[in-house]
Amino acid sequence: MSQSELFAPEAGARQDLAPGAFLLPGYALDEAEGLLTAAEAVYAAAPPRRWLTPGGRRMAVAMSNCGELGWISDEHGYRYGALDPDSGHPWPAMDPRLRGLAGRAAAACGFADFRPDACLLNRYEPGTRLSLHQDKDELDYGQPIVSVSLGLPAIFLFGGLRRADACLRLALRHGDVLVWGGPARLRYHGVAPLAAGAHERLGALRLNLTFRKAG
Ligand code: SIN
Ligand code: FE2
Repeated sequence: MSQSELFAPEAGARQDLAPGAFLLPGYALDEAEGLLTAAEAVYAAAPPRRWLTPGGRRMAVAMSNCGELGWISDEHGYRYGALDPDSGHPWPAMDPRLRGLAGRAAAACGFADFRPDACLLNRYEPGTRLSLHQDKDELDYGQPIVSVSLGLPAIFLFGGLRRADACLRLALRHGDVLVWGGPARLRYHGVAPLAAGAHERLGALRLNLTFRKAG
């Protein structure tokens, strides 16, 4: 497929970061309010919480999920599950506004027919970081990851296929969407400690939504 076929005019200038990795600056801006309303409804049913890692430490990022599957961590390991272990209930359904945005963003990067079954909601306060990791708890690496940033800006660390590879430092702002799949699907990534600030809508918070096909 040629570059011109992949280009998404409605997204503005897509930045091709690496084979399979794309930044869509401001792609979600027009829809941000709807996304936040949907996220708030998820939090009302499944409040953000800091998972215990298998090593027995609390993660710094507070997490919740919506969709058929949710990402979970506890002393037994990392995995996806259909139930919120805190409530025993299924994760809240994925709002069509969330699912729709994720599908369109993926398509704008050449990943047609992305149908996420999991959306992880990551909540960062100033000082919160997410250490370098690969997203590899999903069954099908043929599907991309779609990540939507809202609220305070963050420095996203986008590495290579080996942990020791150098990282690109990418400023992600309110409304930016990052998509990685294909040859980039298993690249290491993380988030540098969030700088203090006050976002006009979210205050001293960053909210990141990552969409995956987990099952
Ligand atoms: C993640 O890797 O799951 C989240 C990345 C981010 O918060 O931007
Ligand atoms: Fe990740």
